[in-house]
Amino acid sequence: MKLSVRTVNTSKYPVLIGDGILEQLRKRLKESRKLKPKLFILTDSNTNRFCLPELLKHIPELEDAIVFTVDTGEEVKSLRTAEYIWKELVSHQADRSSLLINLGGGMVTDLGGFVASSFHRGIDTIHIPTSLIGQIDAAIGAKTGVNIDALKNQVGSFYAPKGVYVWPGFLKTLPVEQLRSGIAEVAKTALIRDEQFWRWLSRKSLQKILEIPFSENFWKELLLKTIRIKLEIVRHDPFERNQRQLLNFGHTIGHAIESLALRRETPILHGDAVAAGMLCEGFLSVQRTGLDPLQMAEISNWIIRGFGKLPLLQEDEAVRMDMMQHDKKNRQQKIRFTLLTGIGKGKINQVCSPDLISDAFGKYYTL
Ligand code: GLY
Repeated sequence: MKLSVRTVNTSKYPVLIGDGILEQLRKRLKESRKLKPKLFILTDSNTNRFCLPELLKHIPELEDAIVFTVDTGEEVKSLRTAEYIWKELVSHQADRSSLLINLGGGMVTDLGGFVASSFHRGIDTIHIPTSLIGQIDAAIGAKTGVNIDALKNQVGSFYAPKGVYVWPGFLKTLPVEQLRSGIAEVAKTALIRDEQFWRWLSRKSLQKILEIPFSENFWKELLLKTIRIKLEIVRHDPFERNQRQLLNFGHTIGHAIESLALRRETPILHGDAVAAGMLCEGFLSVQRTGLDPLQMAEISNWIIRGFGKLPLLQEDEAVRMDMMQHDKKNRQQKIRFTLLTGIGKGKINQVCSPDLISDAFGKYYTL
């Protein structure tokens, strides 16, 4: 007997961006309060201090919510922390009608999304991303996950939140290095998809961008441009079977660099690792997918001027290579990259040999 199965797609959910969106969330929560779900908020120690008061000011009804607070940092995104939150949910009698609101950067929304996806086989969750990376990338696209040892996002799920509320006001709470880190993901988004967007962004140096007051339209435009591209990509490929891999440009090498730093207990910012990853993968693109060396020089100048250079050691190459073997894009033990054929044009599924990768690192050392 043959049974046919209808595959489940990630459900649609609203992504709301703008100054008034916390009021919209308030309205929505008031409506759902009629059902009396138990409300939980996940924060880290920074967002508890700097963002939760702001959220409560806009949505006083959340005063009744039970708040969990975890430490900051990528090392917190672990099964151990997930277990701690699951136990807290149990001890507060959370049930299937409960709602978990994740208030924080990518670490919090990845972790909270993962916890929600598996607690009682899935409870409702809402993301309120507070970092630039969270707002333009991590909280959008229904990926959840935790790290295993130092390896990033090895365990996780695709789990659609009930909504993503992007309030630009939270950007004001960020230390400048977090903002810088987020701009690396913005640059990546432009490089894989939209040359005009890259021109708009790279017209200014990173230093100049970081000096732009949040009251200026620049920031809203940056959020909108980046989120639009991300949504357009994930809408067509929610489970990363193909085009969503475009978003991994700079990340195969970037994650290896970040994971190694994490393993050595000297963590670096995701964006700094991705900036270095984009340079190395840019060099691979010149070799493998015909990126014009002049365009590569343009990319390289802007990134190096803004992000500087990480002190990568040649003797770590073997261990970085080993870490790249864990990349989720790989098949048949071959390391696969998303590369560029030009500015604004990413190309997925590019196998590169260890020699080519080593050569790209070599170019990075001598920049
Ligand atoms: N951050 C990459 C993705 O969401 O697919």
